[in-house]
Amino acid sequence: MDVILKMSKEMLSFWDRRAERFENFTDKRIKGIRKLVGKIAPFVKSFESGVVVDLGCGPAVPGEILESVLGSPIIGLDFSIPMLGIAKTRLRSLIRGDVFNLPFKGGSIAVIFCINVLSDYAEKTRAYRQIYDCLKKGGAFFYADYSENDEFWDMNSKIYPLVFGMKPSVSREPLPKMKKDLEKIGFKIVSKHLISFKMKITLEEYINHLSTRPQSNFRKEKREVVEKIAQTYISKNNEIGREFFLIHAQKLE
Ligand SMILES: C[S@@+](CC[C@H](N)C(=O)[O-])C[C@H]1O[C@@H](n2cnc3c(N)ncnc32)[C@H](O)[C@@H]1O
Repeated sequence: MDVILKMSKEMLSFWDRRAERFENFTDKRIKGIRKLVGKIAPFVKSFESGVVVDLGCGPAVPGEILESVLGSPIIGLDFSIPMLGIAKTRLRSLIRGDVFNLPFKGGSIAVIFCINVLSDYAEKTRAYRQIYDCLKKGGAFFYADYSENDEFWDMNSKIYPLVFGMKPSVSREPLPKMKKDLEKIGFKIVSKHLISFKMKITLEEYINHLSTRPQSNFRKEKREVVEKIAQTYISKNNEIGREFFLIHAQKLE
């Protein structure tokens, strides 16, 4: 049976093609990822035992950091084989699977964390439900993604229509909505956090990031207007404001 649902198939080919590029972007994200994992780690450490899963692990940068803090193995899950190929260099336990169709037994997992994955999807409820079902009673879900105030995605929202002819498909939702959706499934919200950091990126690197995308239609005449917009977000010392949200939710029963 195909483990990847039809709804995920389009995203799958996107991530298969992007695995290498995403890995190469690690040095830009690492500051934020370290901050985020630093926030999650003490909570995860307080669980005495149990399986910990990195959902949508990608190249497993957050997974590797968390594993080294915990000192015990975690399981990385991703649907993209090229991503899992890179993750192999960082984590030992890897599973191919779909966040909308999880391959775990109900009530079997102590902790699930999921970073920058669900923003790929406008409709997230099925994933929330799958996560809830797989968690043990008392289990924790750490859910982190781009916040509504993330300036990098604000900038992309203005520039992508000029370069790619469409807005980015990244779905950034208000925190109160996500809280309500999780509570509807049965989660208790333990805490919410906003994690801000400055990402180093030069205008040249950003333009290069846009113009080397396979679907890019970045004609020379657009460069001037794109630069003008980008300069309003990227500071003179080559930094842009990034912000992740982090929701710590718990399965009560
Ligand atoms: C932006 S990357 C984030 C990777 C990692 N969590 C990190 O923060 O470095 C998104 C990852 O989610 C994976 N992904 C997206 N949709 C998925 C799905 N439906 N099932 C499993 N993995 C998925 C992609 O393959 C990709 O590796």
